[in-house]
Amino acid sequence: MKKEIINIGILGLGTVGQGVLKILRENKEFIEQEIFPCKINIKKIADKNKKIALDNKNYYKILTESAEEIVTDPEIDIVVETIGGFEPAKSLIVQALKQGKHVVTANKEVIAGAGYEILDLARENKVYFLFEASVASGIPIIGALSHSLTSYKLTEIIGILNGTTNYILTKMSEEGKDYEEALKEAQEKGYAEADPGKDIDGFDAFNKIFILSAIAFRAKIDLGNIYYEGIRNITKLDIEYARELGYTVKLLALARNTGLDLDIRVHPALIPKKHTLANIGGAHNGILVRGGDFGDLTFSGLGAGALPAGSMIVSDVVEIIKNYDNYYNQYNCFEKKKIRDFSQTNSPYYLRIRVKDRPGVLAEIAGVFAWKKVSFLSVIQKGEAGEVADIVFLTHQAKEGNVREALEEVTRLECVEKICSAIRVVEI
Ligand code: HSE
Repeated sequence: MKKEIINIGILGLGTVGQGVLKILRENKEFIEQEIFPCKINIKKIADKNKKIALDNKNYYKILTESAEEIVTDPEIDIVVETIGGFEPAKSLIVQALKQGKHVVTANKEVIAGAGYEILDLARENKVYFLFEASVASGIPIIGALSHSLTSYKLTEIIGILNGTTNYILTKMSEEGKDYEEALKEAQEKGYAEADPGKDIDGFDAFNKIFILSAIAFRAKIDLGNIYYEGIRNITKLDIEYARELGYTVKLLALARNTGLDLDIRVHPALIPKKHTLANIGGAHNGILVRGGDFGDLTFSGLGAGALPAGSMIVSDVVEIIKNYDNYYNQYNCFEKKKIRDFSQTNSPYYLRIRVKDRPGVLAEIAGVFAWKKVSFLSVIQKGEAGEVADIVFLTHQAKEGNVREALEEVTRLECVEKICSAIRVVEI
């Protein structure tokens, strides 16, 4: 490489931005001496709060409130975008690429919302746009899918892709903590998004599975057709009942290439305790990849937090430096693929229905499910006998649309008080 000094500009000093600073501060010399001979210079950092607390006083000398200053600085070679959220991050990335700067980001919202367009722009300008940290923070899954696993048509990805919700579910399940308490802890540890609703309601995992599917299946996908659902309705009681039945509750991101279309979705699921992903706890993420003679591959590691994300960002910076004079286009063939309509997908279900505790109730409910072609695997009545009882049903594989119609009909039955929970089951 001819360029001896690489100037970096960092946009945004939230959790991830500060992680990048820390890693560069601690590992810069090692990278410069042992990974690639060059000088990495942090030229400017931008944050809208100029009074932000920084542990190294020298950073105040290069701190600016103007992100524009970084994306237009002719001396800056690589822009690290760690602002998060869609705008202004997207416009700044676009501006930087148009100025001929390489960009590294952890911003899944920007990639999910405008990734194809941004990759085209990067290609036109012959600059890199790298985003390893955008999915599963500390796990190099994008590199694995785009470089190491390209000898086979991949068929399936099952992921726990959100650290915050995995932390919450683990704490609820293993320590009996309440949802709010566990969420507060996840926020304090720097796992959650600035708006934790994005974690809780599945939006974060939805963006991430979109990115993985696009790369693994080389697919041009319409983001709006992917179904996602979060963990707000998961109760400690269901976690306990699931455990009694031999299952763990996880927020799963699923993507399957059926050959005809792509079945991509995010929702909570009961998975068998022996499932590879069942023991991925706390803020860890886990990703199971299938489709080749390499067998099932499981990746796991910290999926949230300043340092896991920061380390992948710094590795992307190093990747750019290593290939500085030999630009290559990493992503060039995305083919339009259809997402299967969610109502046409299939899953077994765990259902908890509160009913009047009297003879004939089960037969009434079973009749409705039979009519909608949903068949039961097991039925257990929970709690003490009384006026009302909770019945837990496990169904065989059933079409999503049929289960929904059945639940709608069941709600109308006089003997049914309410549908307490309806959680899909993922067996393998
Ligand atoms: N809020 C995200 C999570 C951080 O909890 O997984 C990493 O993208």
